[in-house]
Amino acid sequence: MKEVFCTKVLKNELIAKGIYSMILEYHEEIACRIIPGQFVNLYLNRKDLLLPRPLSICRVLTESINIVYRISGSGTKELSCYLPGALIRVSSPLGNGFDLSICEKDVKPKASIVGGGIGVPPLLELTHRLVGMGVSVQAVLGFQDEPYLYEEFQKAGAAVRLATDSGKTGFRGTVMDLIKDETSVQEAEERFLGEICFACGPSPMLSALSGHCIKTGTLLQVSLEERMGCGFGACVGCVCKIKTSDGAILKKVCKDGPVFPGNEVVFDA
Ligand SMILES: Cc1cc2nc3c(=O)[nH]c(=O)nc-3n(C[C@H](O)[C@H](O)[C@H](O)COP(=O)(O)OP(=O)(O)OC[C@H]3O[C@@H](n4cnc5c(N)ncnc54)[C@H](O)[C@@H]3O)c2cc1C
Ligand code: FES
Repeated sequence: MKEVFCTKVLKNELIAKGIYSMILEYHEEIACRIIPGQFVNLYLNRKDLLLPRPLSICRVLTESINIVYRISGSGTKELSCYLPGALIRVSSPLGNGFDLSICEKDVKPKASIVGGGIGVPPLLELTHRLVGMGVSVQAVLGFQDEPYLYEEFQKAGAAVRLATDSGKTGFRGTVMDLIKDETSVQEAEERFLGEICFACGPSPMLSALSGHCIKTGTLLQVSLEERMGCGFGACVGCVCKIKTSDGAILKKVCKDGPVFPGNEVVFDA
């Protein structure tokens, strides 16, 4: 059941151009139920910014959670001004996170994490959980110019590959360019992305990755970040198309997702 409670901002700092990392006090007994890939709704204190802002849980910490956000409009701009000690309303964890059941087997699959831009933060808690389960994790992370958080993925135990559009750090190009480049080299021996891949990022990246994983036989789960309204299933403001044997049906990203099987999502052309 969805709960909304008042909490305290513990930290809110700039970590890259336009990107902030916020730590929020969070009830321990609720935090321990968080599934990687879930998000929270944040309610801003300004009355004119009525709708909640959905933000993914980047890390579950002791009696707190970490969220990492990009300033994209008036709500996230307002959020960036909250100083430690500010009070804010936050929801309990929402949506369906990543399904890790395949990683619970005795023979662990090789897993990949693929993140693009602000789709990177939701994959950090997942990386910690996978490594904790004994899974070998490769993180392929793409940014426009300035990479952030990648050291946290290394500390979590993932082998990190970086791609930047500008070529400033790592491979020059998108994560899909990097993946295709590596796949053509390794194709015959081993799948570059392993048996299972977890991804979050812009829709064109997820769409291309889905096509790639279908070809290479890699299982894929994607986390969608659609525009939302209410954030908890009441307004139909966040639907996406999902393939079924009878054609496509509409599902709510906030309630049925945000994580879906990559081969079932119909990405808009
Ligand atoms: C499940 C989920 C997880 C997300 N996780 C993150 C995250 O970890 N870090 C991050 O930076 N961003 C994340 N986003 C996107 C984030 O919610 C939007 O950037 C934010 O709501 C924009 O609010 P704004 O007031 O600054 O922008 P405005 O454009 O002024 O927002 C106006 C309204 O549209 C909604 N809206 C605008 N853009 C989006 C969007 N992309 N997704 C959903 N609603 C939107 C806002 O919530 C608000 O109600 C996530 C979105 C979803 C759906
Ligand atoms: S945002 Fe209202 S139903 Fe999903």
